[in-house]
Amino acid sequence: MPKRQLMLALDVGTTKVSALVAEAKPDGELAVLGIAATPVVGMRRGLVFEVERVALAIRDAANRANSMAGSDLAQAAVAINGDHLTITPGQAKISLKSGVIRDEDVRSVLARAAHVDLGSEREMVRVIRRGIAVDGFRGVADPQGMVAHTLEADVFVVSGLSTVIRNLRHVVSMAGFSVASLVPAPEASATAVLTADERQVGVVHLDVGGGTTGISVYRGGHLEYFGVIPLGGESITSDLSVGLGVVPTQAERLKLEHAAVGSEREGTLEVRAVSGQSVKLIPIKELQDIVAARVDEWTDYVEQHLQRIEWTKGPSAGVVMTGGGALLKGLGSHLEERWGWPVRLGTPFGLGGLSDLSRSPGYATVVGVAKAGAQQAQTREPESGWRRAVQFWVNLWK
Ligand SMILES: Nc1ncnc2c1ncn2[C@@H]1O[C@H](COP(=O)(O)OP(=O)(O)OP(=O)(O)O)[C@@H](O)[C@H]1O
Ligand SMILES: [Mg+2]
Repeated sequence: MPKRQLMLALDVGTTKVSALVAEAKPDGELAVLGIAATPVVGMRRGLVFEVERVALAIRDAANRANSMAGSDLAQAAVAINGDHLTITPGQAKISLKSGVIRDEDVRSVLARAAHVDLGSEREMVRVIRRGIAVDGFRGVADPQGMVAHTLEADVFVVSGLSTVIRNLRHVVSMAGFSVASLVPAPEASATAVLTADERQVGVVHLDVGGGTTGISVYRGGHLEYFGVIPLGGESITSDLSVGLGVVPTQAERLKLEHAAVGSEREGTLEVRAVSGQSVKLIPIKELQDIVAARVDEWTDYVEQHLQRIEWTKGPSAGVVMTGGGALLKGLGSHLEERWGWPVRLGTPFGLGGLSDLSRSPGYATVVGVAKAGAQQAQTREPESGWRRAVQFWVNLWK
């Protein structure tokens, strides 16, 4: 019997740690065998601030996912998030002696293109293949076997601050697990929910988390833009807590139950004041105004990123949102109205097994990490050193 390919994926988010144990099926589908999420304190805007508390949450989520699956996996593919993640373009061109493009030539040109200067404080997280040109002809999907004099490659190198990466590895190891690979969270979520057609015709992906929003734009089948802003659903909760004078848990509940962008609902809500048992009445309009102010600020930030891209008619496949923050009522129609582009919630696809929970937009990141792991397993080859690391990511994300 062939060996089963089981993997553990982790997403250490600002508000929750998600863990998923999945089996990569030969047909490319992912069977979800275990899935769990544990609320976390000790993360801020995607970064680890309190190691012990975060490690406890990781251990809890990963152990529960492992026990649901009946597995004991100790190595994990882990999502990395935060506005320290950036992309640097890289290019390379090689002359071909043999005339026919071999697999080694493709590897070699991609590895050279990925050799960009990141400075002393940053390290490479992964390499995204953007385009291959054969004798100057761009957009070649699979150059292997073609006859040519030159081969060129364009890549994006995703890098992050070394200190942040070190701390993420450290907290995962404190929890009793080791990091097999790191996957940028926005890319992972995009992998979980975007179709090849959407990437081809043009799509904006927003991963709206608790403390961050990842922005990715795909066009012509490739990533065209990538950025993370340090703002998510938690800011709305803390604004409501301060603005309405209620404790954060109550503010969160009010947000989930009553907040709706663009709502004209009237009336009052009865809530307990921070100071104790006294009950106070809050006009719903006051709550909606606080939400609207933060959503406006968030939209401005996202727009600043999207303005860096030249649009003629906007993204043909519109905007796809993932993350818990994307579930804020009215957010989709607010963006549709403001941008004039269709907006939908992204649902992870290509899943079997315990897929109901994992199909929620809030699990897109951990599902995407597992999908990336499955692709890695298919493309892993015996090579060594940094070249293998580069090749791994190139294969993973092409
Ligand atoms: N139904 C809902 N309506 C509004 N907001 C929601 C809803 N459900 C979840 N959220 C918000 O989503 C946020 C959490 O989303 P998610 O789980 O994607 O974040 P995370 O991955 O922990 O954080 P990050 O990706 O920023 O590190 C919280 O702020 C939460 O209040
Ligand atoms: Mg997240």
